[in-house]
This record gives sequence, C-alpha cells and structure tokens, in this order.
Amino acid sequence: MNEAASRIRHRIFELVREFYHEQFDKPAFVPGKTPVRYAGRVFDDREIVSLVDSALDFWLTAGRFTEEFEASLGAFIGTRFAMAVNSGSSANLLALSALMSPLLGPRRLKAGDEIITVAAGFPTTVNPIVQTGMIPVFIDVEIGTYNTTVDRIRRALSDKTRGIFLAHTLGNPIDLNAIGQLAREKDVFLIEDCCDALGSTYGGKNVGTFGHIASFSFYPAHHITLGEGGAVATNDPAIATAAKSLRDWGRDCACNSGENNRCNQRFGRQYGTLPFGYDHKYVYSHIGYNFKVTDMQSAIGVEQLKKLPEFCRRRRENFKIWEKGFQRWSDSFVLPEATPCSDPAWFAFPVTVRNTALFTRTELTEYLDRHLIETRNLFAGNLLRQPAYAGIGHRVAEDLANTDIIMERTFFLGTYPGLSGEMIDYALGVIDAFIKERG
Ligand SMILES: Cc1ncc(COP(=O)(O)O)c(C=O)c1O
Repeated sequence: MNEAASRIRHRIFELVREFYHEQFDKPAFVPGKTPVRYAGRVFDDREIVSLVDSALDFWLTAGRFTEEFEASLGAFIGTRFAMAVNSGSSANLLALSALMSPLLGPRRLKAGDEIITVAAGFPTTVNPIVQTGMIPVFIDVEIGTYNTTVDRIRRALSDKTRGIFLAHTLGNPIDLNAIGQLAREKDVFLIEDCCDALGSTYGGKNVGTFGHIASFSFYPAHHITLGEGGAVATNDPAIATAAKSLRDWGRDCACNSGENNRCNQRFGRQYGTLPFGYDHKYVYSHIGYNFKVTDMQSAIGVEQLKKLPEFCRRRRENFKIWEKGFQRWSDSFVLPEATPCSDPAWFAFPVTVRNTALFTRTELTEYLDRHLIETRNLFAGNLLRQPAYAGIGHRVAEDLANTDIIMERTFFLGTYPGLSGEMIDYALGVIDAFIKERG
C-alpha cells in the first residue's frame, strides 16, 4: 500500500471510531422502556474498524482475516484444525458429510447408518442426518440439564448405530466422559454440536475437543458473532482434509482463495481417468458444497474472539444472578443444572414451569413480553411434532415424555453479555409481581 493510501486508511479508521460513539454508545437502561433481550450482538468500535479494514482490502473472499480467525479459534478451542464456514447449520452438515468421506476408508459413515440424537433441540442438528440419507434415532433428555444420558444412548444402540450427534444444550455440556467412552467402546463417531457452547468446559477442557468433529455457530445470538458464520473443528487430519474439500466445492486442491500450486504438482499428476497433468485446481474428490466465509465476516470474528473470555465470564455471572433470583420460586419452576464436571458458558437460563404451578408457561411468557422481557422456547420442542418431520425415516428408541414436557412448559431467559445485573433485577421484579398476582 502506498503512503497516501495508508494515511487515508487511518483517517477512515479514526472517523469510524468517532461514528461508533455517536451512533452506538448505549443510552442508560430505563426499566419498562428498554427491552431486556435474550441475546444480541455485543461489539465496540474495534469490530467496525476491523470490518472496514477488510472492506478497504476489498479482497472479499476468505483471506488474511480468515487465516487469523481460524488460527485463533483453533488455539482457543484447543483443536489442531478449525475451519470457518457460513453458518452453524452448514457446519453441522459439513461435519456429518466429512465423516462420509472415502478418505476415512471402511470406518466412514454411509446412507442408512443410524445416528443417535435428541428431538428436544435445534432443527439443524438433526437435519444433516436426514439430508445425508442416514437414520436419526431419537432418545429423551433430562429436565434440568436438558441433555440426554449415557444410559439412554446405551439402550438405543443397535447393530446399525454408527454415530452419536448431540448439541450441548444451551451451553450445558453433555456427559462427555461417559459418552466419549461409550463412543470409543462401540467404535462409533461422536459429533459435538457446540453452536451454543463456545467456551463451555468439561473437566477443564473446552467442549469441541472430545468428539471426532465439532460445530460452532456465530449467528448474533451466540457467544461471538460474525453476523452469519460458523466453524468446524477437529484433531483428525483425514477428517479435516475431507471437511476442507467439502467446504470448498469438493475440490482436491488445498490452496486457499487466490493461492496457486501449494502442492507444487499443479500440472504434474494423474487423477483417475482425467488426462495426465489435469489442473489440480479443477480436480474434485468429493461431492462438495461452497460453505466459505467472506473476509469481512472473519474481520469481525478476529475482534470478537479477543472478547470471548470476558463474554463467557459475563454469561456465567448473569446465569448466577438469575439462579439466585429464581431460588425462591423453586416450587413453581425446575431450575437448570450444570452437568457434573462441567462449567457451562451458558447460552441462556432455562426453566420448566412445574405442573403444580398456578400458571402456564405461555401465561408467564406473554406477561414478560408485555413488560419488554424477551424469552424463547427451547427451540423446536419435540422436533418430531413439527410439520417438516412428519415423513422422515427415523426410529424412536424410547418414550419422549420429557421432550414433550419441554415443548409444553420450558422457556429460557438471556445470559448474554449485553444484559446487566440491573436488567435482570428488573425482570426478576416483574416475575415476582406476576407470581404474586397469581396467588
Ligand atoms: C444447537 C444449534 N445448532 C445449530 C444451530 C444453527 O446455527 P446457525 O444459525 O448459525 O445456522 C443453532 C442455532 O442457533 C443451534 O442452537
């Protein structure tokens, strides 16, 4: 870059910082007037400067920011490989598709294999199982942890079981010791959906490092955001190679965008029945997708990752404030429980209205909505009762009684770092008034 261009660039950054303070500096919280959201993007001038920096590069596709983002993300999680993609849903499809790669030899997954999962969750944890022609096998979860148990998984095993695909529900890790051990014992793949759990730990280690491959989401509601975005992470070089190929159109070549001849054999190899020396850039070893991110998304991610430890601390702190406030109503609500050995960076504070309570979930969540306090249900409730799933091939391994209770009576409140103690105290006051009204 020439000197004049560099000077202009820095002037632009200064203006962006000024703009940020004018446009985004937060007004004070006004109870009953300022919405108490369940999630949202938390950022400052550094994300916008970084975004503008990448815009001025005008590189557009994955580039220097993506390289930095992937390296920092892998270092944070503790995996050898981390690959950015355009959403958590893409990450889940990519993760499962990579496990079907011929690069994995006889251990690879195939259409018709059974994958154990749960119906109480987000649709795009289960969808890739259907989309790849495998069979989801549904088991129930526990109310309180909102995760399933190793015993439930063990009972659901069949001679067709080849994988276990579970989300760490709302940031609460699954029982990774026991489930990881079962996966090894039965020689089945463990896929961790960490979309709501970046920064949650189990036995002091980050989630996403226990299974064969893990997925992450960076949609604005999540622990960090790129706007839209996601990632897969793994320690297995063959799975990483397959994932990269599938992400990048299915190509065999591992060059990054704009790079040429990384292998030094671009025109020097025989691939199948292609003519000798066929350009490696156009050799396809997988039936792939294009799930890549732009450098502008990664530029935001680079700054968000620096804030991640503080974001996680704030999530844990907000969870504790809710927990303390809800103790007094434990006869009306089942309160959330962290999985033993875990330290969740909670995505949210989930509660289940007891059937002995003098109100229903909907009565309470409507009341909160009227007082500008956002809540959400635990995603799809029982996925099998959603219209889209009426005709899918599947097996239900046990009664999904708790899943149905979750659909009827569970909701969650936010823990995201944009929430202050003052906002949570206001919300607790509103809930108190509601409960007193109900006698
Ligand atoms: C558990 C889980 N998996 C996957 C996803 C999908 O992520 P994305 O919205 O980035 O596609 C979500 C989304 O919130 C989720 O909660």
